[in-house]
Amino acid sequence: MTDPNSAAAAPTLHRTRPIIAIDGPAGAGKSTLAAHLARRFGFLNLETGAMYRALALKAIERDLAFDEEAPLLALAQHTTITLEPQREGNRVLLDHFDVSRRIRDPDVTAAASRVSVHPGLRAWMVDQQRALGAAGGVVMEGRDIGTCVFPGAEVKIFLDAAPEVRGSRRYRQIQPNSTANTAAPTEQTILDDLRERDRRDRERKDSPLRPAADAVVLDSTSMTLDEVLDQAETIVRTHLATVRNPSPSAT
Ligand code: DC
Repeated sequence: MTDPNSAAAAPTLHRTRPIIAIDGPAGAGKSTLAAHLARRFGFLNLETGAMYRALALKAIERDLAFDEEAPLLALAQHTTITLEPQREGNRVLLDHFDVSRRIRDPDVTAAASRVSVHPGLRAWMVDQQRALGAAGGVVMEGRDIGTCVFPGAEVKIFLDAAPEVRGSRRYRQIQPNSTANTAAPTEQTILDDLRERDRRDRERKDSPLRPAADAVVLDSTSMTLDEVLDQAETIVRTHLATVRNPSPSAT
């Protein structure tokens, strides 16, 4: 089980650059926001969901059961997952092979949601993620960054939106990629899958999805993308200014 208290001291001690944590449910637009903020502030963008997806893909390839933790953890311990930040997102290497596209397929999406409930596996992921972000200067995106991976992050944004809105955004996103060969999922199927993944993320015992007490919650249900990006940028600037110039009472 990951111990949130053990994280508080370690990752903040030797950092010279800040960490921006972006958490929230599936389909809220975290990746777009994280990539935008990383470009704006000259930070690296790290998608932690891609790490769960990569391991889930390897579990699929090895025909492992998603609900048995021990074999999954043993698999993880013999796995190398590399995130290479790019302008629009991460290039993802699984044991040195590029799996960036494959991990977005629906079977991997469903498997990632199931493997990510296991506490031991999460602890393994969290260790890797802390090592990746230890130097700071990163926008790290996921479900538990502000609550568990980096509870001392200088900026925490929890990006949310109503499930119907997230579902319909996802539906519109995948329409142009559907071909005559692949049966395009209906909007209702996408919404049902999303609700199921939400439920798993929010109800799991270990580091369930929830905003950190000091996160700014941004509900994008009725906002345009530009509004979300603008507001988030303002939040980051305000928080970073406070970190650089703390008020006398805060020191
Ligand atoms: O953000 P995403 O959809 O790529 O994440 C894939 C899965 O990984 C998702 O079902 C939840 C899980 N996840 C997690 O449990 N903790 C994270 N920090 C990131 C993702």
